[in-house]
Amino acid sequence: MNHQTPPPSLAQTQDEQFWMHPWEYMSSAGTAQRTVISHAEGIYVYDESGARMIDGPAGMWCTQIGYGRQEMADAIAAQITRLTYINPFALSAGPPAALAARLAQMAPGDMHHVFLTTGGTTAVETALRFVHYYNNVLGRPEKKHIISRADAYHGSSYLTGMVAGKDRDKSFLDISMPQAHLLSSVNPRRRPEGMTVQAFCDARVAELEAKILEIGADRVGAFIAEPVQASGGVIVAPEGYFRRVWEVCRKHDVLFIADEVVTAFGRLGHWFASKEVFGVEPDLVTCAKGITSGYLPLGACLISDRVFDQVAGDKAKGGSFAHGYTNSGHPVCSAAALKNIEIIEREGLLEKVRALAPHFQQRLHALRDIPLVVDTRGIGLLGCVECTVRGIEHSGMTPQEHLAFDADLGARIDRHCQAMGLMLRPIVNQCVFSPPLVITREEIDQMFDIMREGIVRTMRDIERDLGYRLAPAQATG
Ligand SMILES: Cc1ncc(COP(=O)(O)O)c(C=O)c1O
Repeated sequence: MNHQTPPPSLAQTQDEQFWMHPWEYMSSAGTAQRTVISHAEGIYVYDESGARMIDGPAGMWCTQIGYGRQEMADAIAAQITRLTYINPFALSAGPPAALAARLAQMAPGDMHHVFLTTGGTTAVETALRFVHYYNNVLGRPEKKHIISRADAYHGSSYLTGMVAGKDRDKSFLDISMPQAHLLSSVNPRRRPEGMTVQAFCDARVAELEAKILEIGADRVGAFIAEPVQASGGVIVAPEGYFRRVWEVCRKHDVLFIADEVVTAFGRLGHWFASKEVFGVEPDLVTCAKGITSGYLPLGACLISDRVFDQVAGDKAKGGSFAHGYTNSGHPVCSAAALKNIEIIEREGLLEKVRALAPHFQQRLHALRDIPLVVDTRGIGLLGCVECTVRGIEHSGMTPQEHLAFDADLGARIDRHCQAMGLMLRPIVNQCVFSPPLVITREEIDQMFDIMREGIVRTMRDIERDLGYRLAPAQATG
C-alpha cells in the first residue's frame, strides 16, 4: 500500500499561490494546505479524495437547510432568467420587497423598516451609520459613541472593526477608535474566583451603566451586542443579562443594536432570538448568514418604528440616508432568501431545533469529563468546547510555551475529527460548531461520538509528547 501524501491538486496549488483568504496567516501564506471541498449534500461536505465529513460549523454558522437543495437551485435559476438585477437606488422589484415585508413580520417588536445588504458586515455597518445619521438629524452630533464588549465580532469593515472585541483581530490593523468603548467579557467562566454567576451578571450590567455615565448619556449613541457571542467562542452571558442591559440602554436613551447575524434564522429555535429567547425588543437588529442558508450572500438591518419615525416624514429635515450598495436587495439573493425561509417554515426547523437542543447541549456538556476539556458552552444548536493542557507546570514549560501549546489544540482536535468524518471550526484552544439545522438526533450523536474520540486522541498525543498523564477534569461552573 502506498502511504505517501498525494501530490497537491490543481485547486490546492492555485489556492496556495493566488487566493488570499479571510484572516490569512501571513507567515504561512502560500503553504496553508487548506482542505479543498469538492462538493456537499445535506449536512455533509466531501473533500477532493471523496472523504465525507459532517459539516460541524454549518459553513460559517449559515447552512441552516443543508447543501445542494434542488428547490433552491430552481428558485435561484428562475429568478436569474426572470430578472437578474435592478438598481435598488431608483427601482423596486417583487423579491426584495416581499423579503422586506416578510422580515418585518418575523422580527421582534415594531421593526418595520428593512435595509437589505450584502452580508453581516454591511448590515452592522448600516446599523452603525444609521445611529450616526439619526443623532445628527436629531441635532445631537455628539451622541455617536458606541459601546461594545470584549470577545465581540461584528464584521470586517473599518467601522465594524472599530467595535470588535478581540485583540487578535486588530493585530497590525491600527484602527483608530476614539468613539468605541469596550466592556469586559461576559463569559461567566472568566469571572473572578469566588464570585457567583449572579454577582458577575450584576457587575457586567453595572459596568455598562457606569460606562454610559462616564462618557455621558448625551454622547453615547448605541450599545451593540450579539445575543450569544459566536466567534468569540459561543459565549452565553448569564441568565437575565441581555434583558437587563437593554433596560439600561432604554433608561439612558442609548440605542440597542442586537447583532443577530448568527442567532437569527433558527439557530436558537426562533426566527430571531432577541425577543423569543431573551425578552428584548431592540432598536435595530442585524442579520445575514442563515437568511439564505449560505446559498447566496445577503444581510439586513432592521430598524424599529420608534427610531425610524424620529427622522422620517416631516422630521426628516430634508435628509437622505446616503448609504447603500449596488447589490442592496439583489433580486436573485432575495429570491433565495424567500425560498430558504419557506423551507425552514415548511419543514418545521424552528420547532425541530427547540426539540433537539436539550439533547445537543447534554451531549456537549458530557465532554467535560475529558481531562483536556476545561469548559463547554452552548445554547440551541450552538456549541463550543474549550481545552487546555492541565498540570503543565510539571513539564518545565514556560507560560509562553504553554500558551503556544494550547493555541494549537483546536486545530489538533479538528485534524483528528476530520479523519473520522467530522469537520469543526478550531479557534485557538477551542472548537466551535453549529451544524445545519436539518441534522437528525442520530447524526448529533454521531457528531459528538467523533468529537469525544477526537479530543481523547489529541489528549493521548499530548500525553505521549509530554511523557505523563494529564490530571483529570474538575467540575467547572
Ligand atoms: C455576529 C456577527 N456579526 C457580523 C458578522 C459579519 O458577517 P459577514 O461575514 O457576513 O460580513 C459576523 C460573521 O461571522 C458575525 O458573527
